[in-house]
Amino acid sequence: MSLRCNDIKSFEYIGKRVKVRGWVHRLRKQKENTFIVIRDDRGGIIQTIFPSEKTSHITLESSIEINGLLQKDTRAPEGGYEIKGIDLKTFNIAQVDFPIGQYQSAELLLNNRHLALRTRRMIAIAKIRSSTMKFARQWFIENNWMEVTAPIIVKSAVEGGSTLFKLRYFDEDVYLSQSAQLYLEAMIFSLGPVWSLAPSFRAEKSRTIRHLTEFSHLELEAPWVSLEDILRIQEQLISYLIGNIINERFEELNLLRSDISELKGIQTPFDRISYEKAIEILQRNEFRIEDNGKKRIIQWGDDLNIDSERELTKSHSNPIFIIGYPLELKPFYVKEDVQCHGRGLAADMLAPQGFGEITSGGLREDDIMTLTRRIKQEGLDAATYQWYLDLRKYGSVPHGGFGMGIERFIRWITNIEDIKDTVLFPRTISRVSP
Ligand code: 4AD
Ligand code: MG
Repeated sequence: MSLRCNDIKSFEYIGKRVKVRGWVHRLRKQKENTFIVIRDDRGGIIQTIFPSEKTSHITLESSIEINGLLQKDTRAPEGGYEIKGIDLKTFNIAQVDFPIGQYQSAELLLNNRHLALRTRRMIAIAKIRSSTMKFARQWFIENNWMEVTAPIIVKSAVEGGSTLFKLRYFDEDVYLSQSAQLYLEAMIFSLGPVWSLAPSFRAEKSRTIRHLTEFSHLELEAPWVSLEDILRIQEQLISYLIGNIINERFEELNLLRSDISELKGIQTPFDRISYEKAIEILQRNEFRIEDNGKKRIIQWGDDLNIDSERELTKSHSNPIFIIGYPLELKPFYVKEDVQCHGRGLAADMLAPQGFGEITSGGLREDDIMTLTRRIKQEGLDAATYQWYLDLRKYGSVPHGGFGMGIERFIRWITNIEDIKDTVLFPRTISRVSP
């Protein structure tokens, strides 16, 4: 039986015959002996040694099966186990021009992402992604949230018209979903607390290190919640994810970031900072923004962007919530704070050490008159929101939720600069292939 490397690396197999299937990850041919580091189909590796006359045809990334005796050799990488090869079977001899070597430009790696998935870095990222989705689902199951799916082909904007992808759907124009939120809102009336994980699409026209045109969006929505409830849910989910991912993916996190003690130190509650206070802090630091090609000090009413969020979070070791944004800075659905006119009951969570926004959420406007006015004010096509308005006609309740981009979360916990490296096949304005 063919085993994976990590299962073989155990005392019980020392001196015994073992079989591994995989790809030639590293190859060092010497006169007498050839060292082949084989990589299995879960990214585990083990060194094997063969007499060189058996390996003349072997190339990097060839798919092979080796059969040999497991021995302990302290010089062997990754745990000091080595296989003394006896038989070598080949499935495919790879061409010698495998484009990925040790030092490569970011562009070449992106152009060859289908092959770069075989690098230890991408394997680590893929495993952390998988654990993130697994533990998110596990948290929702443990806390009795119902998993749902919403349509991707939609008629209306959620997050503003400027980032909508339009497509032709038979005889009409439709869009790719920017967020499942409006549909999740419809579901809470009969299903209670619901959540979904689905792709969201944004026609982001600028190149940035934190925007993709297609991202994995984790969203939840629940009836009868307060803004504080929504913040607490986020604190619980985030701490649960981080605790479990550190546990399951310790090696992978270590490979990607120099210091995981920062992550271990994260503690709830996260600070709540009002939008007003955030602007004050930025002004105190004379933080400047671009306005019509000129630089000026940030002022009340300006939106927070990647730079201001970096400034706000660079010396924090915990995430922070920014709450109470002016309504004009947030979409039509945000509920106004009756205690504080013009302010939205909305919050963004900013990850520490400069990473910035990873979630947005809050309470939804549940009054039909106000919501209708806001839809018109934003210049949206009211006709496409009729069904959404119905939710306020028939048994409206206070409710809210939030959304988190999985890639933003991974970018933060892995300390990866460019969001393109947190997803296996990134989509941006300049990249739709591979
Ligand atoms: O802040 P956003 O636009 O909020 C919403 O879509 C709400 N409707 C969610 C809700 O309340 N159900 O997006 C939510 C999160 C952001 O905080 C960010 O993490 C991620 O989605 N996100 C992106 N991630 C990668 N690339 C993009 N272009 C993203 N746009 C948003
Ligand atoms: Mg947002």
